[in-house]
Amino acid sequence: MNDGFKAVQVAEGVYWVGAVDWGIRDFHGYLTSRGTTYNAYLVMDRKITLIDTVKAPFVDEMLRRIASVVGSNRISYVVSNHSEMDHSGGLPEVVSRIRPEKVFASSMGAKALAEHFGQRIPVTAVEDGGELSLGETSLRFFETRMLHWPDSMFSWLGQRKILFSQDAFGMHLASSERFADLIDAGLLEKEAAKYYANILLPFSGLVKKLLSKVSGLGLDIEILAPDHGPVWRKDPGRMISLYSAWADLAPGRKAVVVYDTMWGSTAKMARSVAEGLESGGALPVVMPMASCHRSDVATELLGAGAIAAGSPTLNNGLFPTMADVLSYLKGLKPRILAGAAFGSYGWSGESISLLSAILDEMKIPQAGECLKVKYVPDEAALDRCFMLGKALAEKLR
Ligand code: FEO
Repeated sequence: MNDGFKAVQVAEGVYWVGAVDWGIRDFHGYLTSRGTTYNAYLVMDRKITLIDTVKAPFVDEMLRRIASVVGSNRISYVVSNHSEMDHSGGLPEVVSRIRPEKVFASSMGAKALAEHFGQRIPVTAVEDGGELSLGETSLRFFETRMLHWPDSMFSWLGQRKILFSQDAFGMHLASSERFADLIDAGLLEKEAAKYYANILLPFSGLVKKLLSKVSGLGLDIEILAPDHGPVWRKDPGRMISLYSAWADLAPGRKAVVVYDTMWGSTAKMARSVAEGLESGGALPVVMPMASCHRSDVATELLGAGAIAAGSPTLNNGLFPTMADVLSYLKGLKPRILAGAAFGSYGWSGESISLLSAILDEMKIPQAGECLKVKYVPDEAALDRCFMLGKALAEKLR
C-alpha cells in the first residue's frame, strides 16, 4: 500500500502513527483555528504496543500509518492514556480489527472506557507507578488524575527516554511537520498557551503538583510525546517550563474588556471603560463578542488582572453571546483580581445586575458601581465609564 499515510519515526523503534485533522474548527467549544492532530504512537518490541488511538473517523488513517511499519495484527498491546473520545473514539474499531492481547488503562480509565463503550473492550487496569515489560523495553505508568480527566495518565518509555503525556504539553495545531523544532517557536507558544488557558487553567494547582512529582521522579526526558500537536525531541524542558510559568502566573496589568452591543451604546461604553483603564496604568484588551471567540477571551485572561463585562439587556436578560462567554469563563476559574459590569438598556436593564452576579459567582471583587445607561450614553455617562475603568485599573496597582 502506498497512499502516503506513513508513520514518522520518533526514536529507535518508536513511531508516530496518528492523524491530522486539518478541518476541525470547533473542539467542544474551543476554536481550533489551525486544526489539530490526534497523536498515537507505536512502540516496536516483542510486544508491539500502540499508545493511544484517534478520534473515530480517523481510524483508517492511523491503521494505514501503522501498516507502513508493521501488520496491525501483530500489535499485542494497546495503552489508553486518556479516555476522552478524541483518543478513545477509535478504540472499539481498533480492538475489533487488530484484536490485541490486552488493552491497558489506569484504574479510572478502565472504568471510564467501560462507561463509554460498555464491556466491548476488556481493559486491564494498571497501577500508578506500575511497569509493563514489552521485551527489551518497558512502560511505566503515572496517574495524572484531573489533568485533565480523572482517568488521565502518563506512560514513560525509559529505555528511549520518551514521556507519552496525552493531552498535557499538547496544542491544537495541524501541521505537516511532526516535530516542534521544525515549527515557528512563536506559533507554538501561542497555541500551547491557548490550550493551557482553555483546558488546563482550572487545574493549575494540580499542574504544579504534577510537575514537582515528575521532577521528583528524576525522569531524564529527552522526548515529550503529547496527544495533540508536535513532538518535542529537542529541549522538551521548554514546554515543561512554560507549564510551570502558566501554573504560577500572577494576575498582571492586563485588563480584558469583553462586551456585546445591540445598537452601539454598550460598545461606546466599552471603549470609554478601556480608556479609563489605560489612563489608570492598566493594559486593556477590548474584545467585542460579535467578532471574538469565547476561547480567545479565555486565552487573553491568562495573566490578566481584571475583567470588565458589558451587555445590553435583551428580553430581560443578558445578550446571548455574553451569557455564553461568561458561562465558559466561569468554568475555567481564571485568577482575576477585579471586575466591573456595565451596559446600556431600553426599559428594564436586568443585564447589568446579571453580569454583576456572575462576577460574584466567579469570586471576582468588583470595582466601582455597576454602570447602567439608558439607551445611548451621553458625555456624562461616558465620563462615568472612563472613571469605572480608572477605578478598575487602581485595583491592579
Ligand atoms: Fe485530547 Fe482530553 O482529550
